[in-house]
Amino acid sequence: MRLLQEKIKNDGQVLSDQILKVDSFLNHQIDPALMLEIGKEFAKRFANEGITKIVTIESSGIAPAVMTGLQLNVPVVFARKRKSLTLTEGLITASVHSFTKQETNEISIAQKFLNAEDKVLIIDDFLANGQAALGLIDIVNQSGAELAGVGIVIEKSFQDGAKMLSDQGIRVESLARVASLANGEVTFKSEKVEELV
Ligand code: G4P
Repeated sequence: MRLLQEKIKNDGQVLSDQILKVDSFLNHQIDPALMLEIGKEFAKRFANEGITKIVTIESSGIAPAVMTGLQLNVPVVFARKRKSLTLTEGLITASVHSFTKQETNEISIAQKFLNAEDKVLIIDDFLANGQAALGLIDIVNQSGAELAGVGIVIEKSFQDGAKMLSDQGIRVESLARVASLANGEVTFKSEKVEELV
């Protein structure tokens, strides 16, 4: 997605050869116009899948997920990383280990918001090692819902997540695929010609 690539080039900061900072439009301050375009692009790619629900994880997955839900006219459920005061029963949970942060968190979604009739699209902001996606997939599987695929705003293709999910037969649609962050520069994986127009 050209607009997103340009935004990353212009406003992203390469913090190291592993980490890209995009807090001016995605991870802290949010660019609503860009999120709307991201939502439209995910909706286009999954238009024929009969999606009934979007699933994401707090916090940075919520903005692109809501815009996608708006376009597909379906509800959005986000997995919580902390226990909610009001939400204590009927939870589906999974463990997510972050290699980046060296910590394991339990994530949860209320059972009542996902069921065997649902066809789910998972949306997240980053795909690095794929542990968050695996946790969400675990929850979707436990609910009995069907998984249509995973939509990612920024895939770091030099880490294991995208390949690991594809190897499991899971459809992964990433709007920007970063091949490298070496030498302080963002290099994208080559896109199909029609995606660059
Ligand atoms: P994984 O889920 O793919 O295995 O990712 P990992 O454990 O490596 O990442 C943990 C957190 O760090 C996730 O956000 C993920 O989105 C984020 N992250 C990973 N790589 C990058 C990067 O290069 N840049 C930025 N900005 N974030 C990255 P989180 O902790 O759940 O945060 P949030 O959703 O609450 O913002």
